[in-house]
Amino acid sequence: MFLKINQLHTYYKFKKTIFSPSIWNYALKDFNLEIQRGDFVGVVGESGCGKTTLGNTLVGLIQPYSGEILYQNQLIISPKVNLLNSVLSLRRKIQMIFQDPYSSLNPRHKIKKILQSGLFLHKLATRKNIMEKLEYYLSLVHLNKHMLDRYPFELSGGQRQRIGIARAISLEPEVLICDEITSALDVSVQAYIINVLFELKQKLNLTILFITHDLSLVRHISNKVCVMYGGEVLEIGNTKTIFSNPKHPYTKALLNAVPTLNRNKKPAILEGEPPKTDTIYDHCIFYNRCPIKKEVCKETKPRLEKLNSREEHFSKCFFYSDV
Ligand SMILES: Nc1ncnc2c1ncn2[C@@H]1O[C@H](COP(=O)(O)OP(=O)(O)OP(=O)(O)O)[C@@H](O)[C@H]1O
Ligand SMILES: [Mg+2]
Repeated sequence: MFLKINQLHTYYKFKKTIFSPSIWNYALKDFNLEIQRGDFVGVVGESGCGKTTLGNTLVGLIQPYSGEILYQNQLIISPKVNLLNSVLSLRRKIQMIFQDPYSSLNPRHKIKKILQSGLFLHKLATRKNIMEKLEYYLSLVHLNKHMLDRYPFELSGGQRQRIGIARAISLEPEVLICDEITSALDVSVQAYIINVLFELKQKLNLTILFITHDLSLVRHISNKVCVMYGGEVLEIGNTKTIFSNPKHPYTKALLNAVPTLNRNKKPAILEGEPPKTDTIYDHCIFYNRCPIKKEVCKETKPRLEKLNSREEHFSKCFFYSDV
């Protein structure tokens, strides 16, 4: 398996004041996901469901509470794994591009310094070939070498996001996590960035995890979709299947909430409150908002089950056939 996430739990522990008791925020719960090389996985779900936490855990920015992440069958992330050099060199193969192109680049450094520091740190360039490398990575994101002498504030949002992409790919990753990389940009620049991403995917043989709120974008660009809710995966499958034949009531609700050009078809807003983040539920996490709930959903927690043998389609719903 190329990338496998096994029963991952990532929690945040914090205090409101120094004298108050600790509060746990269960951001990812029993999270399981398998990704094949070359996949373009769209990760969707409402705000606060743990998408960024998933990305941060995958790149090692946050230590998980339990569970493990295997990359090409080698353990790279778990609460116990040591930061040995072998693990670090494998972890470099997973890079992340952040949501906000304004705050993800150091405003005091020129683009040259921003890009070269990672290359030197990982010994991927020498003083001799650094300029050649920087120009190459800039050309991959359609920018020229004059950018190197500029500060981030001198660039537009789209250019800044392309610098973020160049910084990530310069570390020669195989997996790229894109956390809402186009949500701060206008539509034409969004399309440009997506085209750059597609070109890079082909050229560098990348596997991409694309976190977004934009379901219509996911429909067009990804081959797999992972639907998250309250820190859990509720449904995973091929994009075509998920959009034409969703098998979880939450996925269906998400799809019904997408606005369309048809004036007679108003977006259906999902009623009810999202799950509490400081509680671990021993029943279905979608229970309080589910339109097809039954007694058993309150008594037992459903598991992510494979729905048929023909394709990789999983749903966490007892009554998936009624959706
Ligand atoms: N540093 C932190 N300390 C405490 N709780 C946090 C921290 N970061 C995130 N959380 C909590 O973890 C949960 C998941 O947050 P996360 O940012 O991963 O959601 P998200 O799906 O990326 O949301 P959005 O779509 O708004 O970006 C939320 O309940 C959030 O409040
Ligand atoms: Mg986020």
